[in-house]
Amino acid sequence: MKVLITGGAGFIGSRLAARLAGQGATVTILDTLSPQIHGVGAAFSGALEKVATCIRGDVCDRALVSQLLMDAHVLVHLAAETGTGQSMYAVEKYGQVNMQGTAILLDAIVNDKPPNLKKLIVASSRAVYGEGEYQCAAHGRVFPHARTAVDMAAGRFEPRCPVCSKSVTPLATTEAAPFGPSSFYGLTKQVQEQMVLMFAQTLGLDGFALRYQNVYGPGQSLTNPYTGILAIFSNLVRQGKGLNIFEDGRESRDFVFIDDVVEATAVCARDDVHGVMALNVGSGVRTDVLEVADAIVRYFKANVQVEVTGAFRLGDIRHNFADISRISALTGFQPRWSFADGLRAFLAWAETHTAADVGFDRSLAELKERGLMRSGANS
Ligand SMILES: NC(=O)c1ccc[n+]([C@@H]2O[C@H](COP(=O)([O-])OP(=O)(O)OC[C@H]3O[C@@H](n4cnc5c(N)ncnc54)[C@H](O)[C@@H]3O)[C@@H](O)[C@H]2O)c1
Repeated sequence: MKVLITGGAGFIGSRLAARLAGQGATVTILDTLSPQIHGVGAAFSGALEKVATCIRGDVCDRALVSQLLMDAHVLVHLAAETGTGQSMYAVEKYGQVNMQGTAILLDAIVNDKPPNLKKLIVASSRAVYGEGEYQCAAHGRVFPHARTAVDMAAGRFEPRCPVCSKSVTPLATTEAAPFGPSSFYGLTKQVQEQMVLMFAQTLGLDGFALRYQNVYGPGQSLTNPYTGILAIFSNLVRQGKGLNIFEDGRESRDFVFIDDVVEATAVCARDDVHGVMALNVGSGVRTDVLEVADAIVRYFKANVQVEVTGAFRLGDIRHNFADISRISALTGFQPRWSFADGLRAFLAWAETHTAADVGFDRSLAELKERGLMRSGANS
């Protein structure tokens, strides 16, 4: 099997490349080596060059993309700009890379007809759901609207029933939940996945949009201040800095370990797995941000303050965790890593790297300047 991975030098792509190559696949990687993720002047690592042919280039380069697709059986499209907060002001860049980049790939597929291509896999995100699914005592399964700045400024962080405005309880979100992204990043992921699935259907190819939850683990960028809460927190704690927690710290995410994400993606690439559909990829368990912060401080035995500030970012969701029954039924996939074990593995790896100021404060200042981060009731 010949696999083309766009964004293959990134966190998920590099682990996936190694995994597929280990199973005998021939892997080609197309990646710009974005300085925000890899640092200025980065090169492909020796380890990656051992498992894949690494091409430095842009998904928006139509001629290059077309040439690389000619040889591929499977396209795994991971290249993207990935910061939720940053997407709310770097709008043109996010539109260009995420939506236009996908359009260019599809244009090359439709018009240049790569002869061996059988399957398209695109990295989507839980961000396409916005708040996702909740249970209302009176109205059953509901999909709350995005939270308003007025509510959050008053410390009312929990989403409410869209019908009666009463409290609701988070449920595992299924793929049947409607799209409702609350960030431009989420919107670009929605468009990406709809484009890929539509063309897969039309062209008679297999197509999977993998809605990854919050992926973490060894190998994630420790220098990107725009995304990756575990990397950001561990960096700050190791520098002896306190953690300022958004909202009331009870916002939660489904943290899914990198090996489980690679496994889910690799099984979807297998030639006996067919279909055209979106699939959730998560652990199915939600963990709140305060628990994460406390666990990181405990791990490093650090004497730093964890302060709940009440500040909030527009575009953030409150809770989301995945119902993974669809991918399990289709492929047999089951996550293997608990959050406790995965966090230990991540922090042990992070410790082998120097903790440095990577500009997290600057990333927050960029949001504040544009009114996208606000002080809350306790700040
Ligand atoms: N990591 C997560 O928690 C998570 C969650 C949901 C979805 N996703 C999606 O999964 C995919 C991979 O995420 P990741 O965590 O590995 O991110 P990453 O930032 O580590 O990797 C993305 C890679 O894409 C490359 N890239 C960026 N722009 C490019 C362009 N124009 N042309 C070619 N390459 C380009 C970057 O250099 C980088 O190597 C992304 O599409 C992301 O949106 C990730």
